[in-house]
Amino acid sequence: MKPYYQDEYVTIYHGDCREIVPTLGRFDLLLTDPPYGIGVDRAMAKQGGTQYGKAAAAKRHYEASGWDDATPPRWLLDMLRDHAEKHIVWGGNYFELPPSRGWLVWDKMNGDNAFADCELAWTSLDIAVRKREHLWKGMLRAGKEERCHPTQKPLGLLTWCIGLAGDVQTILDPFAGSGTTGRAAKDLGRKAVLIEREERYCEIAARRMWQGVLDFGTANSALCVKPNGRKWRMEHERVEARHRSEQWMDDQHKDDRAHG
Ligand SMILES: C[S@@+](CC[C@H](N)C(=O)[O-])C[C@H]1O[C@@H](n2cnc3c(N)ncnc32)[C@H](O)[C@@H]1O
Repeated sequence: MKPYYQDEYVTIYHGDCREIVPTLGRFDLLLTDPPYGIGVDRAMAKQGGTQYGKAAAAKRHYEASGWDDATPPRWLLDMLRDHAEKHIVWGGNYFELPPSRGWLVWDKMNGDNAFADCELAWTSLDIAVRKREHLWKGMLRAGKEERCHPTQKPLGLLTWCIGLAGDVQTILDPFAGSGTTGRAAKDLGRKAVLIEREERYCEIAARRMWQGVLDFGTANSALCVKPNGRKWRMEHERVEARHRSEQWMDDQHKDDRAHG
């Protein structure tokens, strides 16, 4: 299948992980954040795209497409786990997963309100329960990251996860959203394959990969806009040209074989 985006470290596929993962090999780490099945996309869209519904909050046009209507079934989680040596699954308390001692806790430093204080990740790592504090409360976010996906995870959180997994060189995220796993992997010099079924999120993820490691902090304010800049088009053209030349070489090999 032709990737939506590819660079030295990250490959993004636009499509359904149920169909794409069986065509891929094995990875060192499955690091993912599947839909929790709580309809968060519909809730966000109802609020008109504002976080907490406050006038001061940045408007985000989250459209509902039903991606958060159901949790992945057990067969899918089993299949995904079979494709990796180690596993970290955010929202693990929502899914059917085997017992584990190595849970991760993300304390969002939310203060006193109706929102969850923490999120949990199930892991297959041989570690004690670990906790990470990272402020993520509406517009108040450690690291001042642009938020383009209703359930986006902080970059620092996923970088921490990769560190906990030890010597992992290849990472799979089949529910990639805005591509935070890929960005963390790329920053750490690891390879990652991301899969996302919504094209608008593939686009945002691709932008995040394309931005240089060093300019990410300052350039991310443009993440949520449609990519139509000249540099972006050049990068797309470069990737397209590479695919065309690879296709051409494949065809040549087929011809050579056909003609002995
Ligand atoms: C919880 S979000 C991931 C957010 C991500 N961690 C981030 O930082 O942006 C889950 C994502 O999985 C995608 N998704 C749902 N079902 C999928 C499927 N079968 N194949 C690929 N992507 C899927 C949704 O569109 C959604 O963007």
